[in-house]
Amino acid sequence: MTVIAIDGPAASGKSSVSRRVAARLGFACVNSGTLYRAVTREVLRQGADTSSPESIAAVLAGAEIACGIGDGGESFVRVNGDDAGAELSDAQVNSHVSLVAAVPAVRELISHLLRALARERPLVMEGRDIGTEVFPDTPYKFYLDASPEIRQARRDAEGGTDRVAARDRLDSTRKTAPLRTAADAHVVDTSHLTLDGVADAIVEKLRTLGIVPK
Ligand code: C5P
Repeated sequence: MTVIAIDGPAASGKSSVSRRVAARLGFACVNSGTLYRAVTREVLRQGADTSSPESIAAVLAGAEIACGIGDGGESFVRVNGDDAGAELSDAQVNSHVSLVAAVPAVRELISHLLRALARERPLVMEGRDIGTEVFPDTPYKFYLDASPEIRQARRDAEGGTDRVAARDRLDSTRKTAPLRTAADAHVVDTSHLTLDGVADAIVEKLRTLGIVPK
């Protein structure tokens, strides 16, 4: 099993960089945040209370969550048959996802699904706890960071309403699997690097660890 774990706070460049690294290596790319977003969207759709772990667990118990790797080599997720598309990054989901992701039952189920994906093929997987909790034994761990101002500016430039500092605070202070840097992660400050520059740095580091681009 080969997993390249890429963790970091919101808008640190994880998704774009992970796609680039996966393409260079010929690996599939898994965005674990979409699973948390898909569950959150279902909780909202059912009108459940996102501040109640019991209500969230009830939605989870009745939901069928399917995820896999599509033909393009990227992960997909469907909850009760619906992939929700662009709604996964709408304002409601942005502002509730960290509450839902803090619920242990949600994390347990999603971590289980993520581990199953990694048994299928080599992956680049991005998230918050991939190197610390989901695959603590992978030797390939990266933590992307950038200043809070730069990260918020990136989101604003995308035209959204995502408040990254609020999500980061909740994600770093939750009890279960908080966002933190694994002791053995390679930290990359993306503040003043291009996405290709970050991908280059990761691919070069991986080469020294024996993972060679295709
Ligand atoms: O990566 P993205 O910003 O789409 O993630 C959305 C949210 O999902 C995060 O703010 C966090 O609450 C949750 N998440 C998580 N663990 C992961 C990936 C995402 O808790 N591995």
